[in-house]
Amino acid sequence: MKKTLQIIIAIFICLNIFGQKKINPEVQADSLIRLMTLDEKIGQLNQYTSDWEATGKITTENDKEIQIRQGKVGSMLNVIGTEKTRKLQEIAMQSRLHIPMIFGLDVIHGFRTTFPVPLAETASWDLASIEKSARIAATEAAAFGEHWTFAPMVDIARDPRWGRVMEGAGEDTYLGCLVAKARINGFQGKGLGNVDAVMACAKHFAAYGAAIGGRDYNSVDMSLRQLNETYLPPFKAAVEANVATFMNSFNDINGIPATANKYIQRDILKGQWNFKGFVVSDWGSIGEMIAHGYAKNSYDAAMKAIIAGSDMDMESRCYRDNLKQLVQDGKVDISIIDEAVKRILIKKIELRLFQDPYRFCNLEREKQQTNNAENRKFAREIGEKSIVLLKNDPQTSGTPILPLSSKNKTIALIGPFIKATIANHGFWSIAFPDDSARIITQYQGIKSQLDKSSTLLYSMGCNVNDNNKTGFEDAIKMAKAADVIILSLGEAPNMSGEAKSRSNLQLPGVQEELLKEIYKTEKPIVLLLNAGRPLIFNWAVDHVPSILYTWWLGTEAGNSIADVIFGKYNPAGKLPISFPRTEGQIPIYYNHFNTGRPAKDENDKNYVSAYIDLQNSPRFPFGYGLSYTDFNISNLKLSSDQLSINEGKLTATIDIKNTGNYDGEEVVQLYIRDLVGCVVRPVKELKGFQKIFLRKGESKSLSFTITPADLKFYNDQIKYINETGDYEIFIGNSSNTNLKGNFKLTL
Ligand code: GLC
Repeated sequence: MKKTLQIIIAIFICLNIFGQKKINPEVQADSLIRLMTLDEKIGQLNQYTSDWEATGKITTENDKEIQIRQGKVGSMLNVIGTEKTRKLQEIAMQSRLHIPMIFGLDVIHGFRTTFPVPLAETASWDLASIEKSARIAATEAAAFGEHWTFAPMVDIARDPRWGRVMEGAGEDTYLGCLVAKARINGFQGKGLGNVDAVMACAKHFAAYGAAIGGRDYNSVDMSLRQLNETYLPPFKAAVEANVATFMNSFNDINGIPATANKYIQRDILKGQWNFKGFVVSDWGSIGEMIAHGYAKNSYDAAMKAIIAGSDMDMESRCYRDNLKQLVQDGKVDISIIDEAVKRILIKKIELRLFQDPYRFCNLEREKQQTNNAENRKFAREIGEKSIVLLKNDPQTSGTPILPLSSKNKTIALIGPFIKATIANHGFWSIAFPDDSARIITQYQGIKSQLDKSSTLLYSMGCNVNDNNKTGFEDAIKMAKAADVIILSLGEAPNMSGEAKSRSNLQLPGVQEELLKEIYKTEKPIVLLLNAGRPLIFNWAVDHVPSILYTWWLGTEAGNSIADVIFGKYNPAGKLPISFPRTEGQIPIYYNHFNTGRPAKDENDKNYVSAYIDLQNSPRFPFGYGLSYTDFNISNLKLSSDQLSINEGKLTATIDIKNTGNYDGEEVVQLYIRDLVGCVVRPVKELKGFQKIFLRKGESKSLSFTITPADLKFYNDQIKYINETGDYEIFIGNSSNTNLKGNFKLTL
């Protein structure tokens, strides 16, 4: 028997070395599965974190290496660098069948070069740049031995109390689908098998962003119609983009934890959508079904998860400890194990790890990607594009403060983020020992662009989040001595991200008090707001003339911000999420239903759907963002007032003119409203956008094509349908636009 087995293994290995490109990965996986013991199969479904880093509650065993050598560990996460990955892979290759491990990591917005947090990048509305950002991240991560990133996070989020809103693409499903595809295309590049391509992972499946109260890990409860209409499409878009893997979510959905939710994982993902990759659980989510009260014990949890389509167990050990018994007890059919193993092996084959388990362990490539100037240059560019200009009111002189001249100025830089380093990375960045020295601070960025005729003053003013006002005096002194003040405030980088829900979105600590004191000096103020999520800063909006939302922009943050402040780049960012006036207004999002008693305006309180103590609109709406120049969008025309369901398409055109004093870009957005439906329909839905550059004084016409497919929605039977009737079309520079046209969808 042993001799026969050795011959089979030898043939298999030969096939891999010489024949892989001809052998279908499925056939190869099947032939390997036939050789595997049940223990070896279960090993492929087991994922551990390294003992060096952790992104969850770390559970250490000192015998991990023994388990790897026994073929009981199919994957590891948080192993960084070619040296460490090679060491562990060498141990895995000592297993009986020499099955390589895959190494995964949260490469969410950059790896060695950190880019803006994903919500900030989305504010660029620049899909090509978003894809390029992921492409660079993948190239760097792969050079450091990573096969797999746990990204993109594609969770639609309408609640900024939820800390992970920073990690996705905001509140809109249409934009979320496009960004998901861009990020997956970036990560997977020309396809698995290329040494600069990593497996992407659409997460967190599903509806994790709809946690009640915006409290992380909390329950999600919604109609299947809403789930299919709003939260699932970005995941479907991920499958259409050929995403290699999915990660499920911690939350229960309508009473069933996602990890054991057959409806989403089997019926929809692997059924309707025909997803061929594999699903990894989120960190410990299988074992957490005990706390959910959905599993009696880890045996029960393992059974429910594997049957529901969770293929790989991240860090809970439920599969390792129970699957063999479950098969022997007849509770789980071996075919279910084999299906999960096959999905995982196919990805390892596609990554060509059987041909060469160490192909991602190339020290030369790692060195090349350690300080890549081109990558930093791009980080600076996408950082500029992610900044949103919220206000830039003209001063008494008639002109706004921004852009600032770099000459003949005394500029006071004040605030806890002016000289911050690592903070610019935001949450979910990969830490390297020399980060502090590599990151361009706001101080450095501004200083580097200041003319020698100018003077720079600095005061921290206050800490991010305490009651210490001892720095106020010095800050006020600097402010009084300056021509203009750049005040950099916000939340700490670890106040958004996983397990970072906030009930209060105001500026933390005494920052607003500092702002008010500085304001009393009556000097011009430019406010920079650093955050991973929408904050609430009403006093600032009501009093400060110029406000830039600078998010967390990564390695080149200071240069990106300085480029915008001094006008080297004219800001064009648009908010990918509504900014509430108060926490009490949440959830507030642009594509809401009209209700039977819509407020007729901002202040209508007369027996309408409104708060009696607050205006009816958000502080800043979805799609909003200013420029140093002005754009006039006019003359909306439709190619017809009818669109036929069967073969039609409608063209909408507008004229746009740059009527201001600066060249710049505008994101022209197209929204649709279905006036009457078999279910109520949103007052607006984003269905198209174009980002256009116009020189000052330049005009252009833009065309948008609308097809019946753009108008489909889920009816109350969860059928994705078109419905004839009257529609409105809006085109403008934010979701607030009222430039409108009408058409009918006809049979
Ligand atoms: C975390 C996150 C998930 C991440 C995983 C591995 O808990 O929820 O997004 O990919 O664990 O770090």
